[in-house]
Formats: sequence, C-alpha cells, structure tokens
Amino acid sequence: MHRIAVIAGDGTGPEVTDEALKVLEAVGAAEGFTYELTKFDFGGERYLKTGETLPDEALEELRGFDTIFLGAIGHPDVPPGVLEKGILLKARFGLDQYINLRPVKLYPNVDTPLKDKGPEEIDFVVVRENTEGMYTGMGGVQYAGTDHEVSTQIHCTTYRGASRAVRYAFDLTRKRNLRKQLHLVAKTNVLTSVGGTWWRAFNEIGDAEYSDVTREYAHVDAASMWFVKNPEWFDVIVTENLFGDIITDIGAIISGGLGISAGGNINPEGVSMFEPIGGSAPKYEGQDVINPLAAINAMHMLLDHLGETTAATRVEAAIVGALNSGQIKSMSAGRMGMGTKAVGDLVASLV
Ligand code: IPM
Ligand code: MN
Repeated sequence: MHRIAVIAGDGTGPEVTDEALKVLEAVGAAEGFTYELTKFDFGGERYLKTGETLPDEALEELRGFDTIFLGAIGHPDVPPGVLEKGILLKARFGLDQYINLRPVKLYPNVDTPLKDKGPEEIDFVVVRENTEGMYTGMGGVQYAGTDHEVSTQIHCTTYRGASRAVRYAFDLTRKRNLRKQLHLVAKTNVLTSVGGTWWRAFNEIGDAEYSDVTREYAHVDAASMWFVKNPEWFDVIVTENLFGDIITDIGAIISGGLGISAGGNINPEGVSMFEPIGGSAPKYEGQDVINPLAAINAMHMLLDHLGETTAATRVEAAIVGALNSGQIKSMSAGRMGMGTKAVGDLVASLV
C-alpha cells in the first residue's frame, strides 16, 4: 500500500493532477497495487485566505508519506517568491530532497525546435543539486531604498552537498548503462572557489568509485549552446542548483516544452516529490486546454521511484502510445486539438 500525498496547487495544477491520478488509477487496477491518496490544499488560495504557505506541522506530516505528487504552485495575486519559497523550496529543503532529477527525452511524434534532431539525439538526464547554491537564502539587503543599497545573494556549495549529488549522478549513469558518460557542468573559469569544490568532488569520487564511467566537463555557457547544437553529446549531467534550473528549461524546450517535461525532487533516504516542470499557467485555468502529459510523466517517475517499475513502464508506454496515435496535435496549451481530460482518458485507456 503506497501512501501518496497530493498537493494539486494553483491555476491549472488541479486539472493536470486529476489526469495524472486518472492514469494512476488505471495502472493501479491493471497492475494490482494499492495506494491511498491524502490531499493537501497548499497554494495561493489558501495563502490569500489564511496567510499560511506550508506550515511546519504540515512539513512534518509530509515526512510520513511514501511520496508526494505536486501539481503546480504560483498565483497571480501573490507577490513573486512567497509561494515559491514558502511551499516549493520549503518542501525541497525541509525534506532534504537534494536531487532534482530532470530527464530530457524527446518522445516520438513530439516536435522539437532543433533542426535534424529526433528521439535518437535527444535523450539525456540532468541531475540538478537541489538544496544549495544561490537558493539557500544566504545574504540580504542593507541600506534598502537608498543610493547605498547593497544586495548580496550568496552561492553556497558544500563538499558534502556536491559529493552526494555527484555520487547520485555516477550511480544513475551506471544504471542507465548507455554511454556511461557523466558531464560536470560548472563555471570553473570564473567561479573558482565553488567550481573547485565541485571539481574535487567529481574527480575524487570518480577516481575512487566509478572508474567505469567516463568523466567529461563543460562550462555552463558552452553546455547551453551544445544542448541546442549537439544534444546527442550528453548522457548524464550533474550541476549546481541555479545552473541546473536554467539549463533544464533549455532541456525542456528541446524535448517538446513544458507541456510534457517532468521532474523529481528526490531524497534517496527520505520522501521524494514529483512534479511537472511547468508552472500554474493561470491564464489557462478552467478551460480544459492545458497539456496533462507533463503531470502524467511525473506520475511515471513517481511510480518508478516507488519501485512499481512495471507500472511505470506501462505509463510511459501509454504516453508514447497516445503520441503515436497522432491525435495530439501539439504539446502547447490550447493547440493540442483535444482537451485536457480527453488526453488523460486516452493515456489511461492505453496503460
Ligand atoms: C523550477 C522552478 C523553481 C526553481 C521556482 C518556481 C522556485 O523554476 O522548479 O525549476 O527555481 O527551482
Ligand atoms: Mn525552473
């Protein structure tokens, strides 16, 4: 029995979550596993009513689940940063989900803006460190509102943080067993202190434990270019938090966009949280036009993480089946040629 916490969230979050749960129900019935859903209403509406984002007690409660499914967080009436920091980042940090796992995989019949590139060329994974870097909140503003205003936002990398991300990435590279090649993406030519720590972790751990994995290095600016020019060069990438945030948006767009891209916030020793990479897209709320495939893809990752590997494979195959049916005209909201619910029905019928 899997105990799953569900935070549907804001905007179109609840609509895509419904479709992911529909597919979960179908695959649960087909595979014969059981689960229990517990729904939480954290998000913009609750914040506007009560001033609460993710209370400490709720964080404690979330620790008791086997996994968490998150729809989307973000509300047009709430200032930027409040919900992001108060809910999403609080969960990532509080539950020590130190890996943000973001596959960049172009499925068949999905358009990529890259000329002459197809599913053969676009299939890699970004392992984004998820609890350090520029996201810790270290720093602040002094003399605010004056000409002397000073703002600092400190990048924090620890050897422990870099090492555990690097080790996770090496293990994943081995498990994928494709090119057995791991890229470190950093900026060692400018961010020499931070880059040095990553470089040391990458090479020390690689030398000691992973001599079967080929190590490569790319500066983040060059890697951004190569994602577009030569995505086939990559197998697994490990990088710090903000670089990972930025390059995975490039990864998302070359593999069909936010309509289909999913990720997992993973604590290998604790509770993990799976989400579509896209936001709450409030302008599409309630119109049955948002693409639920990213959420369904997040459910595929969630099942894999729970050890329901056959179910996970079935869900991914059903996504591919839906794409191969030719019925879904585009990955973009409003251009799919069918509604949110109809896409969910189609995938559920194919698991
Ligand atoms: C993401 C998002 C978040 C991030 C925001 C919403 C805080 O962009 O999941 O990539 O920066 O990590
Ligand atoms: Mn992002």
